[in-house]
Amino acid sequence: MNEFQPRALEKFILRGEKEAPPVFAGRDHILDDILAASKESWKPGTWFREDSHGMAGNTRIVHGAPGAGKSSVLRKLGDWEMTPSAASGLPTVRPKVLLLNSAGIESPTDLLEPLAELVSARRAPDFVKLYERHLSLGVSLGGVGVNVKAGTRESRNFSLAGIKQFGTWIRSLPWHARLRCPVIVAIDEAQRFDHDADSPVARVLQALHDNAWSLPLTLVLAGLGDTPDKSRKMQLTRGARLHEVGCLSAGETRQVIQGFCRTFGANAEGFEDRLAAYAEPSEGWPRHLHFAQAVLGQELLGTHGDMQALDWTFLNAEFRKSRVSYYRDQQSPMMESANGLTAAVMAQFRDGMEISDIVNVVNKCQRKDSNFSLPKSLSGSPDPVLDFISHLVHQGAIQKSDDSTYYSPIPSFRSFLVKRGNLDPGTENAAPGDSRLDP
Ligand SMILES: Nc1ncnc2c1ncn2[C@@H]1O[C@H](COP(=O)(O)OP(=O)(O)O)[C@@H](O)[C@H]1O
Ligand SMILES: [Mg+2]
Repeated sequence: MNEFQPRALEKFILRGEKEAPPVFAGRDHILDDILAASKESWKPGTWFREDSHGMAGNTRIVHGAPGAGKSSVLRKLGDWEMTPSAASGLPTVRPKVLLLNSAGIESPTDLLEPLAELVSARRAPDFVKLYERHLSLGVSLGGVGVNVKAGTRESRNFSLAGIKQFGTWIRSLPWHARLRCPVIVAIDEAQRFDHDADSPVARVLQALHDNAWSLPLTLVLAGLGDTPDKSRKMQLTRGARLHEVGCLSAGETRQVIQGFCRTFGANAEGFEDRLAAYAEPSEGWPRHLHFAQAVLGQELLGTHGDMQALDWTFLNAEFRKSRVSYYRDQQSPMMESANGLTAAVMAQFRDGMEISDIVNVVNKCQRKDSNFSLPKSLSGSPDPVLDFISHLVHQGAIQKSDDSTYYSPIPSFRSFLVKRGNLDPGTENAAPGDSRLDP
């Protein structure tokens, strides 16, 4: 057993939820699938020949509510690069990971430049020069490429995307400067990509998806529940596979909480059931589990790692507070202004509903009172009911599963929203309350 590590524990608490978890559990099928796609894109033995690598349509979309563990999956992809000896089926050639955030991708350069640097840091400036020259030709003549000045919006946007220039640059590289391993282009917060299919950024994503350059690239997009819809809008569909991220299993939850104690040297022997009962209200939701660890860690600092001296009633109460505050953050102003409607919809929502069922529920639940009508901010929308449902998905109240039906990813969030609406006790089909959130 390790010694108790107060310094490391303090650091973990201080760094907060954005850090990699001390123990990463589950998600094997997602990681294996991405790794398999990346391996398939790599055609060893032919790497010295042009136009040989890659696979069209091997994009992977990792989606789930806030706190489900999407960014952690992307971070884990990076570990493959750093831990060559990890036992679980690593390929002899390890992929490199280019980890980007959609917030930093406003134009094609924001994607193509880091990609060029990863392919050949020394020669990337040549691509930048080539691309800038192509663009500046257009700027001096009114904002678009001279050769497409009279063209359609689509051809202008295609020209601006720099796909041809990137291909020209790739083909100009001497064989020894080309990629020697597959690359996973992982983009986080991809729900922010709200582009039409012919926009320059969408064009570059399509080029990655369609294997336009015959390079060993795999595109992975991670984002909230509406990411698959946004990807569809950008036409990243053919062959793309969706991976939904949600709760960890009870076994994985135990693994995380016990692994936490082990990592920081708190002796949990004999406390296994106690710990499992403490972590149980997390429902396996990763973000809750992070707070279960942070709250426990804070108390362990006070007892110098002695589990025997912990006040479990206090711990349970503190952990519950963290869940309520997460739900408050997740309840957007739009949901709050329509808290009656949100509550009624969530009370009548059932796992396995199709979108048409949810539309019916929303229509049935609307009333004249302002908090039971659709939010005013949607009044200009051509389909406010669908937009309201999309918003519930975006906020993590409901989630679309891979078979296109919907479910509530965190049952206690649903109970919280129902409770916030102060519905009449007789509300039809009201979902049962969750006593784990009671004060
Ligand atoms: N597989 C996992 N095992 C253990 N903890 C996890 C796992 N995935 C996520 N977490 C923890 O849950 C929290 C939320 O994860 P994060 O990846 O930031 O979620 P998202 O990107 O979906 O909002 C983080 O504190 C992270 O450490
Ligand atoms: Mg994230």
